[in-house]
Amino acid sequence: MKEDKLQPHHHHHHHHHHRLLLRRLAAFSGNNLIRHMSFILLLALSFTFGYFSAPQLPSPPPLQTPIDHPTTTTTTTPMVIPDHDRFSTRCAATPVPSKLIRQTIINRLFNGSSPYYNFPPPHVAHLLRPKRVKGWGSTGSVFETLIRKVKPRTIIELGTFLGASAIHMAELATRLGLKTQIICVDDFRGWPGFQTRFTDIGSVNGDVMLMYQFMQNVVYFNATGSILPVPHSTGSALEALCELGVFADLIEVDAGHDFHSAWSDINRAYKLLRPGGVMFGHDYFTAADERGVRRAVKLFAGVKGLRIRTDGQHWVIDSAESH
Ligand SMILES: C[S@@+](CC[C@H](N)C(=O)[O-])C[C@H]1O[C@@H](n2cnc3c(N)ncnc32)[C@H](O)[C@@H]1O
Ligand SMILES: *[C@@H]1O[C@H](CO)[C@@H](O)[C@H](O)[C@H]1NC(C)=O
Ligand SMILES: *[C@@H]1O[C@H](CO)[C@@H](O)[C@H](O)[C@H]1NC(C)=O
Repeated sequence: MKEDKLQPHHHHHHHHHHRLLLRRLAAFSGNNLIRHMSFILLLALSFTFGYFSAPQLPSPPPLQTPIDHPTTTTTTTPMVIPDHDRFSTRCAATPVPSKLIRQTIINRLFNGSSPYYNFPPPHVAHLLRPKRVKGWGSTGSVFETLIRKVKPRTIIELGTFLGASAIHMAELATRLGLKTQIICVDDFRGWPGFQTRFTDIGSVNGDVMLMYQFMQNVVYFNATGSILPVPHSTGSALEALCELGVFADLIEVDAGHDFHSAWSDINRAYKLLRPGGVMFGHDYFTAADERGVRRAVKLFAGVKGLRIRTDGQHWVIDSAESH
């Protein structure tokens, strides 16, 4: 099995064991168990996330823990989980109207002052290039197809880097006469050691200038009115947007490509889709995918009963389409 070559055995011992077990079950019982299996697999994953404390799967379910022991971790059997994301925050009941989203974010995350105000600051200006853009599949056909189809007022992008895909989407929206706000969630740290490849992105005392170079690119392309950075981890940013009631018509998932990051981002992103909204992401077919992105997308679609379409290297899930 390909994936086993990629993963050290000692970390994944019992997951590996479960996968084998699930495969045997699948071979034995056929496709009608797939949905069922997703929940079992989900339980296995939950160990990784630390929601359950037991190291082994699954001994008979424990007797119901009395509710007057609030510190005890209660485990339920997988079949009893009605909705796998019920453990997390509920999003605000009242959505922020599209036209107020930008100002709401500026007020709540930037103390009322646009991040482009007085940009660039003097201690940074000399470290920036007028334009420095580099992306991966950032102008693929999926962007135009989806923007034409969805006509989004609000796009959330998870993973922006230097802004290649965001700027492309902003140009498409402008060309199509849309008034689209693109919320760019990125911690703007890149990844550990990325400056060995991007030697021209400077740092000040270990603070990498990625957000500033991204903003400079947005300024260069005259897109400051439609692109707003949200410089936080995807987890905390999506949690905050959910609580604020910032929902999107279109969400691009392109941040961490390991399984745990992709799984978490996809789950959180889905909660922020407006009814009928579409989410999509890169690297469904590239080298990293079998360890991360594709497995997360498939598992998610399986659990939710959603259809996965592909477009070039991108995956697409339309919340309005189910099996
Ligand atoms: C592949 S790049 C995005 C490329 C961009 N979408 C494009 O096409 O030009 C991935 C980005 O995700 C960001 N990222 C990775 N993990 C993150 C996390 N947990 N929270 C926020 N940003 C993250 C990195 O900083 C990096 O800029
Ligand atoms: C936040 O905005 C208020 C009102 O404009 C201002 O008085 C305050 O100094 C700002 N705080 C910071 C940390 O910039
Ligand atoms: C941005 O706007 C300026 C002033 O209108 C214009 O000269 C320039 O060509 C524009 N840049 C791009 C990349 O569209």
